[in-house]
Amino acid sequence: MAPHTHLTYLAKSSRIGIRPWHRRHDRRQIDHWPPYTPTLPAHWLAASRASGERLSYAVDLLGVHLTGRISLLISDSAARLGIALHPGHLGSGLGTEAMSLMLVVGRQLGLSTLQLDVAAENIRAARCYQRAGYVAVGEIWRGGYRYELMERGL
Ligand SMILES: CC(C)(COP(=O)(O)OP(=O)(O)OC[C@H]1O[C@@H](n2cnc3c(N)ncnc32)[C@H](O)[C@@H]1OP(=O)(O)O)[C@@H](O)C(=O)NCCC(=O)NCCS
Repeated sequence: MAPHTHLTYLAKSSRIGIRPWHRRHDRRQIDHWPPYTPTLPAHWLAASRASGERLSYAVDLLGVHLTGRISLLISDSAARLGIALHPGHLGSGLGTEAMSLMLVVGRQLGLSTLQLDVAAENIRAARCYQRAGYVAVGEIWRGGYRYELMERGL
């Protein structure tokens, strides 16, 4: 597909840019992503069922294509992030960069703290969040699984 050179990003590094999710266009691309191999446990990707305002963002590899999706659930008590990268782009630092750029987006939204929860066995994700400055502040249980609750002040 055509490079996203014409897009204005909310936050940008030398490799990636964060922009609002384009429901129709981006959904079509994500539907064609290959599966994660090895398959990821479903609960790693299970979204929180808390209510609130749900915002979605696209992570673009600059000049190439959509490479990830970030969700942000804003409720009265917290702003909770979720992220999934294209299966072909794991483990090369893009997640750390994207989660760092979300600090800029969070500030633009006037938020003071970002939170996330990560399945206790999802070591790659937890490492990525630590590298982006998120720290473990507790644990929660959902559907019988333990999640680390992490947060970062803005
Ligand atoms: C979680 C995710 C966003 C992280 O992004 P990423 O670009 O892959 O992560 P990064 O490369 O920035 O950092 C990963 C860290 O884990 C390490 N890592 C990479 N692969 C790993 C693996 N299979 N197991 C354990 N650690 C691993 C990396 O070495 C790095 O740690 P380091 O800084 O100590 O070297 C991405 O992997 C992803 O989308 N995963 C699938 C969906 C998912 O699990 N989402 C999270 C739900 S909470």
